[in-house]
Amino acid sequence: MLLTQRSTLTQFLIEERRRFPGAGGDFNALILDIALACKAIARTVAFGELGGVTGDHASEQGGSVNVQGETQKKLDVLSNDVFIRRTEWSGHLAGMASEEMDLPYQIPGQYPRGKYLLVFDPLDGSSNIDVNVSVGSIFSVLRAPQAVIETGRDVTQADFLQPGSSQVAAGYALYGPTTMLVLTVGDGVNGFTLDPNLGEFMLTHPKIQIPPDTHEFAINASNSRFWESPVKRYVDECLAGKTGPRAKDFNMRWIASMVAEAHRILMRGGVFMYPRDNKDPAKPGRLRLLYEANPMGFIVEQAGGRASTGENPMMAVRPTALHQRIGLVFGSKNEVERIERYHQEPVTTELRNPLFAERSLFRD
Ligand code: F6P
Repeated sequence: MLLTQRSTLTQFLIEERRRFPGAGGDFNALILDIALACKAIARTVAFGELGGVTGDHASEQGGSVNVQGETQKKLDVLSNDVFIRRTEWSGHLAGMASEEMDLPYQIPGQYPRGKYLLVFDPLDGSSNIDVNVSVGSIFSVLRAPQAVIETGRDVTQADFLQPGSSQVAAGYALYGPTTMLVLTVGDGVNGFTLDPNLGEFMLTHPKIQIPPDTHEFAINASNSRFWESPVKRYVDECLAGKTGPRAKDFNMRWIASMVAEAHRILMRGGVFMYPRDNKDPAKPGRLRLLYEANPMGFIVEQAGGRASTGENPMMAVRPTALHQRIGLVFGSKNEVERIERYHQEPVTTELRNPLFAERSLFRD
C-alpha cells in the first residue's frame, strides 16, 4: 500500500478550508487538537490492565460518581483530563462542557479565549472497558455566543443550550481493533483510520453514506416492559420477521457502547434505539442530548441517515439543561421515519395493552 495515496487528517482539513477563503486556521487547529486527545486516549485505553487504568475511579472522598449518578471509571476521569489539557491552551475555545463535569469548564486565565465551545463525552460506553469491548469519545463543536466572544467572559450553562442544527462540527473516535476518527464539518462524513506506524489519522472512509433501508436493529431488549407502544410495535414487527407485516427477517445487535453501535450503522446501515421509556420517570431517556444525541445525530444526518427523538427531528430540539437526557433513535432513514410514523399514528387499544396486542412479545 502506498501511503501517499491517502490524505492525512491535516491534509483533508486544509483542503476543506480552501472552500472558505476567509477562514482563519482556528477551526482546523482545534480539530487537530481534539484528534491528538483521541490518539492519547487510544494509547491509554490500549494498555488496559498493564497501564493500571482499569476499574473505578477513587476520589479523595472515596468512590466517585459523576453528575449523571453513574460510577466514574478511572479512564473516564483520565480521558476527560486529556481532552481538557490538549485543547484549553490554544486560544480557540471559549469554554467546554463534558459528561464528567457538573458545570462548564472555564478556560484558565493564563490562556487566551476563542470563539468555539467544545462539548464532549470523553469515554462513551466506559462500562465496557473492564471487559475489553470497544469504547469511544464523542465531541461536538459549537460557536460561542457573540457576547462571549466579544467580552471573553466566563461561559454559563445557557451558552451551551444550542440546538443540534447549530453544530459546526461533530465526531467520534472509536477505540476498537483499529482506532478511527469519524468527522463531519457539515459537508458529509469522512472516516480516518489511525496508522499506528505514523501516528496519523489517514482518510480511509471518504463520504460515508448510510443505506436508507436495513434489516438490523439495536435496542436494549431488557427494557421492553418499559417501552412506549410505538417502540414495542416496531420491535415486535421486526421480531415477527418474514411472517409478520414487514415480510422480512431482521437481525438484532446490542453492544452497549453507542459509538461502536453508531459505527456499525455508518458502515452497513441499521437502526439504534434508546427510546424514552417509563423505567424511571425522572429520566426521559438514557442518553444525553448535548454530547451524545446531538453529535451522533449530526453525523448520521450528514451521512444521509436520520436522527430523531422518536417523534421529532433531534437536530431541532431546543436544549434546556447541560446534562439533559433524551430518547434517541437514529440510523437508516426509512426505518427511523417509520418509527416516527408509528409515534404519530393514534394508539389503538390493542397497541396500548401489550398483553393483548396481536403482535406482542407475549403472543406467538
Ligand atoms: O452512556 C451511554 C452508554 O454507555 C451508551 O454508549 C450505550 O449505548 C448505553 O449507555 C448502554 O446502555 P445499557 O447499559 O442500558 O445497555
